[in-house]
Amino acid sequence: MVSRVIPVDPFDLVIFGGTGDLAKRKILPALFRRFCAGQIPREARIIGVARSELTDADYRDLIAKTLDGTSDKSQIDAFLNCVRYVPIDAHRTDGWARLNDFLSPERVRAFYFSVAPHLFGELAQRLHDHGLANDLTRIVVEKPFGHDLESANALNAALAAHFDESQIYRIDHYLGKETVQNLMAVRFGNMLFEPLWNSQYVDHIQITVAETIGVAGREAYYDYAGAMRDMVQNHLMQLLCLIAMEPPAKFDPDAVRDEKLKVIRALDPVEPYHIVRGQYEAANEDMQDGYRAQVGKPRSTTESYVALKCHVSNWRWAGTPFYLRTGKRLVARSSVINVVFKNTPHAIFGPEAGRHANVLSIRLQPDEGITLKVTIKEPGPGGMRLIDVPLDMSFAEALGSGANEAGDAYERLIMDVIRGNQTLFMRGDEVKAAWGWTDPVIAGWQARGEVPKPYASGSIGPGDADELMRRDGRRWQGIKP
Ligand code: BG6
Repeated sequence: MVSRVIPVDPFDLVIFGGTGDLAKRKILPALFRRFCAGQIPREARIIGVARSELTDADYRDLIAKTLDGTSDKSQIDAFLNCVRYVPIDAHRTDGWARLNDFLSPERVRAFYFSVAPHLFGELAQRLHDHGLANDLTRIVVEKPFGHDLESANALNAALAAHFDESQIYRIDHYLGKETVQNLMAVRFGNMLFEPLWNSQYVDHIQITVAETIGVAGREAYYDYAGAMRDMVQNHLMQLLCLIAMEPPAKFDPDAVRDEKLKVIRALDPVEPYHIVRGQYEAANEDMQDGYRAQVGKPRSTTESYVALKCHVSNWRWAGTPFYLRTGKRLVARSSVINVVFKNTPHAIFGPEAGRHANVLSIRLQPDEGITLKVTIKEPGPGGMRLIDVPLDMSFAEALGSGANEAGDAYERLIMDVIRGNQTLFMRGDEVKAAWGWTDPVIAGWQARGEVPKPYASGSIGPGDADELMRRDGRRWQGIKP
C-alpha cells in the first residue's frame, strides 16, 4: 500500500535552537524525509538560527551529518540547498533584520521555538518588534509547556501578547504518532466499538507507556520534571482524552480539542492513595546506573515511574476507573491501551467454566496493532471449559509496507503546521487544564514529603503499583515487548 503525498506550498521555516539536539535528532531529519518524499518543494527555505557564528556552509555540514547517510547524494544536496543559517542571540537586537531579508511576505512563515521555554516570551517579543510577525506567521513550541499551571499561564500570556491562538502550535509528539491517531479511527470509524464504549460495558481502562531507556543525557531537565510532568501531564493525558472523549461533530481542530478539554475538566482529583511513585535502582550492586547516581543527586526524590487511578466524572464514564502508568528503565518498551470489558451478566456455563472478560488492546508501539481477546470453548471433549484467545491484527502485517510509510510523528506535525491544521496540537486551555489537574498531585507529594518507591531496573516497576490494582480486584495486563 503506497501512501499519497500531497505537496505543500513553498514555505519559510525558521528553527530557533537550530544547532540543538532536537533540531539535529528530530526536526531536520523529519524535514529531509518529507523532502525526499516529494512533499516539501525545492523552493522551501529552512533557516537555522542559534548563537554560534556559523556560515551557511558550516551549518549545512552540521546538518548533513544528521541525515540518513544512505540517501541519494543528489537528494541530500538538493535539501541542503534549501537550508540557511543566521546567527542570532535572543537577548540581542542584531541579526533580526538579516533574518527578515530571507523571509518572503507571501509565504507561510513558521518559527519553531526549539529552545528552553524561558526564551519563548522574548522570542515572541523580538519577532514582533523586528517586524517579522505577520498574518502568515505560525509559532511552534515544544513540551514541556511550563512546569506548572502558573508558568504555563505565563507562557501562554507571553505568546498571546503577539499571536492569536490560531497561530500557536503546541507540540505533543504523541499526537503525531500514526497509531495514536488510529485511536480516533478505531473509535469513530467503526460501529462495533462505540455502543460498548461506556461504563455500562467497560470495567476499566489501562494506559501503559513503558520505556526501557533511563534519563542519561537529560539528567538536569528530568530531575527537575519527573515522570508526572514529563509524561503524565501531556502524553498519557492526551491518550486518556482520545480514549474517553465524546465523538466530535466533525474532525476539525476545535471540535476535537473541545471534546478533549471536557475530559480533562471532568477528571476528579487523584486521591493520594491512588497513586504510586517509583524511582529505578541500578540493575545490580556493581553498577552505578541507578536513577540517583545518573542524575548525580544521592537524595533525589524525583520519580521515574508513576502509576495512578483516576475517574472521569461524566455520564459516559461514571464508575469506570482509568489506570495510568509510565516509567523508565522498565522491562520492555511498550505503549498499550487496554480496554477491559465487564464479565457477562450471568455465567450460563457454570462455575467450572470460569469467568472471562473481553479485552481490547490497542498497541501504540512497538508492533502497532489491535488485539481483541475473546472467549471460546476449549477444543476437545470433556465438558464446556472456556479459554481466551486473541483476535490479533498487526498493522505491519495487515498493511505491509504502508504501515512503515506513515513516517515519524515530527514529519506529520511539521507538515500540519505548514498546512495550517491544528487538530493534532494542544490548545492553550487544554494545557492549562492538564496542569490544573497535575499540580495538586505534585503539591501533595511535596507537602507529605513523599519519597518514591525504589524499583529494579528491568522490572515492571514498584510492587505497590500491583497493589493499587489488587485492592480493586484487578490486575495490570503484562508489559510485553
Ligand atoms: C518525551 C519525554 O516527551 O517522550 C521522554 O520527554 C520520553 O522522557 C519520550 O522518553 C518518549 O517518546 P517515545 O516517542 O519514544 O515514546
